[in-house]
Amino acid sequence: MSKSPVFLTGCAGFIGMHTAKRLLAQGETVVGVDNINPYYSVELKRNRLKELEHENFHFYEIDISDRQTMEKVWATYEPKRVINLAAQAGVRYSIENPFAYIASNITGFLVILELCRHQKDFENLVYASTSSIYGSNTQMPFTEDQMTALPISLYAATKSGNELMAQSYNYLYGLPVTGLRFFTVYGPWGRPDMAAFKFTKAILAGEPLDLYNSGKMKRDFTYVDDIVSGIVAAVNTKPTNKKGERHPIYNLGNNRCEDLPKIISLIEETLGKKALINPMPMQLGDVQETYANIDKAKADLGYSPQTTIDQGIPNFVRWYIDYHK
Ligand SMILES: NC(=O)c1ccc[n+]([C@@H]2O[C@H](COP(=O)([O-])OP(=O)(O)OC[C@H]3O[C@@H](n4cnc5c(N)ncnc54)[C@H](O)[C@@H]3O)[C@@H](O)[C@H]2O)c1
Repeated sequence: MSKSPVFLTGCAGFIGMHTAKRLLAQGETVVGVDNINPYYSVELKRNRLKELEHENFHFYEIDISDRQTMEKVWATYEPKRVINLAAQAGVRYSIENPFAYIASNITGFLVILELCRHQKDFENLVYASTSSIYGSNTQMPFTEDQMTALPISLYAATKSGNELMAQSYNYLYGLPVTGLRFFTVYGPWGRPDMAAFKFTKAILAGEPLDLYNSGKMKRDFTYVDDIVSGIVAAVNTKPTNKKGERHPIYNLGNNRCEDLPKIISLIEETLGKKALINPMPMQLGDVQETYANIDKAKADLGYSPQTTIDQGIPNFVRWYIDYHK
């Protein structure tokens, strides 16, 4: 792969910031794009950007669906490697504000596909998909060849849509492209709408935490540093794998299925404080269980997650306390 800049969208986001940091530490030049939308704390996004101050980091506050502005920035750098993490994330918010998902995840992704396909000597577009696309599949662990055509949320539908759009660009124009299905990512600088963050906040405040489906939910929790290793390996791997796939798609999980109450116990232990529980029914659009088979990413990308929740959750909680001092 060339040493041209890496074009990274969603760089002020949780996974984006960690990805940019790793790339900069490896001596890469990163062109970062983010619209800093107010889906959650804008201050948190701006503080993440402060972590990225570096002579090789070039930031543009733009919306990926703004085609003209994106074309201008693109022309300045002519990137050959792209990591698209910008998206409207979250399953539950897709019920409240469906239009945000189409603008960022569908129109925005189309702009990225078009820019990549017209770029001379283009090498690889890596884009974020999600475990949510497995919907209510019950065959565990999830393997990449399982059916994903029955999404149970609009968020999942837009991410499945990304996989289909990428497939058509690969078929029509030979676009080198790699899809990554992330499984519940957590860690320092995490998202305020996700379980570890919400639980820690509630326990510290002495407030009851909402526990959906009485905690009878399981997730394959993946530490952010492990996800970043998978993303960086993917963007530097030619997207034709040993089986001859031209648009490989990989699960990036931890290959462990953890009970939600176990996460709460780990947070309680680290804080030295008990949680108050507010039992809630299962939320519309949520899946009960996720569990990743990661053999394919191991074989092709050398992906090998290192962090268990026993290490990762206390790391997150320590960051949370430090950040909110
Ligand atoms: N965190 C997880 O557990 C998880 C799991 C599966 C998939 N993903 C996917 O990984 C990616 C990154 O997730 P994250 O957890 O870092 O989320 P995040 O919300 O923290 O980061 C996304 C960033 O993209 C930006 N953004 C959104 N729409 C944009 C647009 N139209 N133009 C420019 N910037 C835009 C946001 O401001 C935000 O900073 C997303 O695509 C998400 O769907 C995340």
